Formats: sequence, structure tokens, C-alpha cells
Amino acid sequence: MVREILMTSNPTPYFHTLPEKDYQKVVQYSRKRFYLPGDVIVRERTLTDTFCIIETGKVEITKKFSDGEEMTLALMEAGDFFGEMALLDQGPRSASVRALTGTTILELSRESFEHLLVEEPTIAYGIMRELGKRLRETGALLISHLERKNKELQEAYLGTVQALVNALEARDPYMKGHTERVTFLAKRIAERLQIDKEDLFALEIGALLHDLGKIGIPDLVLQKPGPLEPEERYRIMEHPQLGEAILRNIRYLERSIPSILYHHERIDGKGYPGGLSGKSIPLFGRIIAVADSFDAMMSDRPYRHRMSLTQAVEQLRQGMDQQFDRQVVEAFLQALEEGEFDRILPGNPQT
Ligand SMILES: [Fe+2]
Repeated sequence: MVREILMTSNPTPYFHTLPEKDYQKVVQYSRKRFYLPGDVIVRERTLTDTFCIIETGKVEITKKFSDGEEMTLALMEAGDFFGEMALLDQGPRSASVRALTGTTILELSRESFEHLLVEEPTIAYGIMRELGKRLRETGALLISHLERKNKELQEAYLGTVQALVNALEARDPYMKGHTERVTFLAKRIAERLQIDKEDLFALEIGALLHDLGKIGIPDLVLQKPGPLEPEERYRIMEHPQLGEAILRNIRYLERSIPSILYHHERIDGKGYPGGLSGKSIPLFGRIIAVADSFDAMMSDRPYRHRMSLTQAVEQLRQGMDQQFDRQVVEAFLQALEEGEFDRILPGNPQT
């Protein structure tokens, strides 16, 4: 298996930059050990207080994660060092080190290093400065690695969510493309409202899943071509809560729940399921309400034709402060005027 390597040895490792006489002083305070290829020099999670300088040879530093995955953190060669944390704390080692070739290590215990600090402070401070630099670099590398992993995880989430959406759209032919358009519209509105990146991702997931609860509504009701009876309307009106119930225990979807639960609330409090009003309706719910209603008005249904763009815009304007949040509609209209929605409007070859 090819493993990602976080860090490789510096082109000029620190201990090769030391004047020979200083290096020899460090050697005096160390204990020399030889390792054969494959030997474990440091074992993860064990307590050791030695700082190690590679005199000759090559080592690999690896870390095992709780899911069993092992990652190579670094490959290091002569002149480089590891075990810097041993000088700073007494906790168990956070990674393992293995010799890749025959390797000679100069081991400096914490006690020896303290002696060096007293007897040869300039050399010891030089090493400390280098340790600080190394820790900062490792920290920055780990952060960029985590950011990349996080992105991969987000993509995996989106893939799972898309599978749920496909299952839903397969049941209701009139839903086809609706979810994707609502998600597109909601994201553009949210960007205008300067929602931060993390919230934008939660909104995207919420928009994709906003009608998931319809999965629990019988076909006879969901696919009925004509106007609905009151009981049938009540069944449909249960879909925000059904969606919330399906997703409630999935922790990474927690922040997307408001989009699902509150996208049929109205500013005047006459919406469902909570009858919330004004700003007590979570923002995600207010954004999806506008995106969802606009797309519904612009789509053909078995019992009615779609509206023209002018009519749909007029409906949104008239609904301000009653059905819709004024700020959200204004953000929507700005984006529309600037052509951001052209790609999904009827008449465009891509729709
Ligand atoms: Fe809905």
C-alpha cells in the first residue's frame, strides 16, 4: 500500500550544520546505539525520554490511528533528529520510529540534555530553537493534512446524501432536478448573505435533503395528479418532521436539520410544522423556503402550468414579510438580476 508521507528530511539536516567541535560536544553527552533494518527504535504509546539524533542511516516515523490505519509521518536521514517531544513532556510517545537501513542513533536523555543546557548553553539553545521550528512546521503540516482529510470526508458525505436524493427522486417524477435546482438557488442566496463556508456546506446538505421526509408518504398521495383532499394535504405536511425523524441521530447532519424541518414555515406564522414566525424561523429554513417556492412556481405540475419568470418574481415580492423573509428575497432578486440563475432557468438548454 502506498502511504502518504507528511514530511521528508530537510535538505541540510540541522546536525550537519553544526560546527564539528559543537557536534562532538553533543556526542559526548549522548549514548550511541546501532539498529538493524526493521528494528523499532521508538514504540508508539510507550514512555521514553530520549531525544535522538541520526548519525548514520535512515528511519521512518509512523503513527497508527484508532481505525487501524497507519500513516508515515516522516522519512529522516543522517543529521536529522526525532523524539523532540521527549524533552518537552513526559507523556507517551505519539509515533513509532523504525530503522529502514542499518542506523546509528545518538540518544540524549532528558537528564543529559539538562547537563548540556548548563555546560554548553549556546549549543543547547540552538537545538531548542530548532525544536521549536520543527514543532511549528509539523503543526502546520498536520493542519493542512487534516484540512484535506476533512474535504475528503465532506465529499463522502455528499455522495451518501446524493444517494438518498436519488432514491427520493426515483419515486416522484416531478421531483427530478428539483432538489438540485433548489440546492443551487439556496447556495447562491446564502453566499449573498455572506454565510461562512462551514455553514454553506451544512446548508447544501440541508437543501439536498429538504424533502427527504416525502420518502415516508404513500405513492397514492405523493403522485396524485389532481388537487389533494384535506387528509392527503395533512399527510404531505408531515414531510418536514418525517425528514427530521429520519436524520435526527446522524451527528454530522445536525446542522442541516433546520433546512429540513423549517422550510415550510412562513414569516407571518401561518406555515408548518411549528407555526414559527419572523426571525425565530432558522435562517436555513427561510432560505430554502424561497428557493423551493421559486422552483415550484417555475415547474410544470400535472394540474397546472408553470408561471413565467415575471409572475414568479412578482409572487416572491408580494410574499415578502408574509410568506418570505424580505432579506432573503432581496438577496435572491439581486442574484437573479446579475444572471446567476440563468443556468437553471427554463428555456436554457441545460435545464
Ligand atoms: Fe418540502
